[in-house]
Formats: sequence, structure tokens, C-alpha cells
Amino acid sequence: MPGPRTLANLVEFFWKDGFSRIHEIQQKHTQEYGKIFKSHFGLQSVVSIADRDMVAQVLRAEGAAPQRADMGSWQEYRHLRGRSTGLISAEGEQWLKMRRVLRQRILKPRDVAIFSGEINQVIADLIKRIYILKSQAEDGETVTNVNDLFFKYSMEGVATILYESRLGCLETSVPQPTVDYIEALGLMFSTFKTSMYAGAIPRWLRPFIPKPWREFCRSWDGLFKFSQIHVDNKLRDIQCHMDRGESVSGGLLTCLFLSQELTLEEIYANITEMLLAGVDTTSFTLSWAVYLLAWHPEVQQTVYREIVKNLGERHVPTAADVPKVPLVRALLKETLRLFPVLPGNGRVTQEDLVVGGYLIPKGTQLALCHYATSYADENFPRPREFRPERWLRKGSLDRVDNFGSIPFGYGVRSCIGQRIAELEIHLLLIQQISDKEKEKEEGSCCRLREN
Ligand code: HEM
Repeated sequence: MPGPRTLANLVEFFWKDGFSRIHEIQQKHTQEYGKIFKSHFGLQSVVSIADRDMVAQVLRAEGAAPQRADMGSWQEYRHLRGRSTGLISAEGEQWLKMRRVLRQRILKPRDVAIFSGEINQVIADLIKRIYILKSQAEDGETVTNVNDLFFKYSMEGVATILYESRLGCLETSVPQPTVDYIEALGLMFSTFKTSMYAGAIPRWLRPFIPKPWREFCRSWDGLFKFSQIHVDNKLRDIQCHMDRGESVSGGLLTCLFLSQELTLEEIYANITEMLLAGVDTTSFTLSWAVYLLAWHPEVQQTVYREIVKNLGERHVPTAADVPKVPLVRALLKETLRLFPVLPGNGRVTQEDLVVGGYLIPKGTQLALCHYATSYADENFPRPREFRPERWLRKGSLDRVDNFGSIPFGYGVRSCIGQRIAELEIHLLLIQQISDKEKEKEEGSCCRLREN
């Protein structure tokens, strides 16, 4: 099988910061070597697949507990600290058990629809924050560093669901524990690239290059510590009610605690991993969506007209309203096609497979290149253009329902937080687009700008 050799890969990834340019490298290698190629990293190799039908074949053939990648470094940290794995890092029976429990609570749109009220309160706080920032701006209208705002919104939104409590990320004076928390999370994200190196560097090399592993452990310590504080607060609260003989009901954490299907350590691990997976993914997607709308005011107006027509003016939407505005859903899909937060996905083959005419033995690490397939002309005509309407279903045969763009993954190991992310993004986009267009009509438009 063709593909780049070890030296070229080492230069690309470790010298030229390839972990930040995975999307570019995917496209470059696809052009050079074709839709299926093998990259060598010393004794290890990765087979990349950048063809929609081959990706579909691999994902449709997967078994009951697919493996995404070698999570050795994550599992080693848990072992070292006596912690449990969560959905991202667990494998086999342990993963199946936790996935079964969490799947029942947050996988379907109707499971997360009940959080509309909480998310709308977070949106109200975000809008208030935007108006405060706007009033403080020199020109009285430009709000800078949009991604920071969306980061705080996503964190507040997902924490509201995961911890069943508010963190105060969007307040003018953010509570100190929340400041520490944001810093810990920021550290995790800023060192995340380093932590990818931690996984890539073999154990025997650690004494010579200790920093990545040290940073990796420090970030996880911070994340677990803060997550545990909030989980414990909620659990204490629940316990108090129970001790007083009161009946207890609530959201995700309450259900997990009461059902006792997961151990306390498993709850910590899953809440921590979900928070890690659910903040920057959602906030970057929101930033890209707003960026695309800013460049395409005609699309924004079309979406606004649909919102007004189907939901009316000044309507605070709930999850039940989202299917009535298909263009908003299409806008998110098109944003994720053009700017998928995770440009690729992985699977370790659990059986021998024949793909694209090659025999791929069991245990091979596959890279599924959905950034490359999202920009392939044969999957999406005029792929560089932002055209949300391509996702609208006009007839039963006219549906863009394929494996060309799978930003949340696919199958039994797909993103467990998809519906939470969609709820946060859809509800906010509906309100933001409505507010912006109304402001334009009233001549008091606010500008958002990324620094
Ligand atoms: C726009 C937002 C998001 C995107 C694009 C995204 C994307 C992804 C992708 C591509 C995967 C791998 C799926 C696969 O292997 O087939 C994944 C897994 C995962 N995501 Fe998300 N995600 C988002 C938001 C969230 C949120 C909000 C949460 C939590 C509340 C979350 C939690 C997880 C978890 C726990 C996994 C691992 C699932 C497992 O292995 O069973 N994600 N996500």
C-alpha cells in the first residue's frame, strides 16, 4: 500500500507541528497517495481511508464494542491514580456497561429536550453578557474574542446538564472556584497537543523527554479535581434530601447516583470526560457558524425569515421548535462539514477486512478521514461553498445521508453528547439570528469579532 514513510511523518508531525494541521495533511496525503494509504511511524503504522464508501464499509462492519484508538496513555494515568476510565478511554465490557447506562439518558433528542429550559437560561445570560460587553466597547457595538464567549457559554451549558448546577461562567464577576475551573480546563486544552505527544512517545523515551507525560498527568489531575468538587456538591445535596426522607428527582447526575448502575469513580470519570469532550467542540462549532453567517448575510436573512414564519417573532424556542426550522439544522450540518472540529476519526479493526482491494489485518489502526471526504466533489458538489440548503430534504430520494460528512462519528461508538451539543447550538443560533436581524431592522446592530 502506498503512503508516507517514517522519516517524512516524523518531520511532518514533530517538526512541522502536524498535530495542529491534521486536516491539511489528510488532504495532501490523499492527493499524493490516493484514497487509501498507509503511514509509517517506526514499527507502528496507520491505514488512512479518505473514501466515503470505504468509510461506510468499515463502520457498518463494526462489532458490539468498537475500539477507536490505542488509549494506553489514558488508561495508564487512571491506573496510576486509582481512577476509573470513562466512555472515551474505556474498552470492551467496561465500555459496553457504561455506554448502556449513559445511552439511556442522553442519546436521543427527546432525552435532552427536557434541558431546553436550563439551556435557555444560559442563553439569556450570554445575551446579557454580550450587551454588557457591547456597552463597554469603544465604538459601543463591537464585541471581540467571540470564541471566549462561546467557550464560557458551552461550558456553562454542558455543566448545567452534567452537574445540574450553574458555574457562573457568564457573570461579570465570575466566582473564584469557576475561574480556577476555567483555568484548569484551559490548561487541559492548551496542553492537549502536548498530551497527544505523550501518547505518541513510547514509555522507554519518557526519562529523556519527560515534559509531555508530566503535563498530561497534571492536566488530568486538574480536570478530575474540579469535576469531583462539583459532582460531590450535587451528591451531598441529593444525600441531604434523602436523609430527610424527601423524594428526589433530577437530571443526569441524580439519575446516575440513584440508579447505582455506575460506581462513584465511574461517575467521576464519565462526567470529567464528557466535560472535556463537550466544551471546545461546541464552542468552536458556534464560532464557525457565526463566522460563516457573517460572510453570508443572505443566508442569515433566509434563516431568519424561516424562523419568523414558523416560530413567530420574539419567541424563545425549545427543542420541540427545532424540527420546524430545518434551515437551522442544515446550517449546523453545513458548518460541521466545512469545519469539523475533529477532522478525522479512528478505529482499530477487530477482524481481518478487505477494503479497497487491500487485506487489512485485525488490530490495524485506521484513520477515517472525514475532512477529506467532506471536501470531495463527488460527495458534495461545489464543496468549498457554504450552502446549508444542500442538507434540506426535498424528497425521500433527495437526502444527503451519507458517510461523506460524519462530524459526530457513526454507530454504537458515535458521540454520546451529539444531542446535547445540537440542543445548545440550535437554541442559541435561533435566538442569535433573530436578535441580530431585529437589531438590523431597528438600526442598533452589534458586531462580533474574533481577536
Ligand atoms: C459539536 C460538538 C461535538 C462534536 C463535533 C463531537 C464529535 C465527536 C466525535 C467525532 C466522536 C467520536 C465518535 C466515533 O468514534 O464514532 C465523539 C465522541 C464522544 N463525544 Fe463528542 N462531539 C461534540 C460534543 C460533545 C458533547 C457536548 C459531549 C458531552 C456532553 C461529547 C462527548 C463525547 C464522548 C463521551 C465521546 C466518546 C463516546 C464513546 O466512545 O462511547 N461530545 N464526539
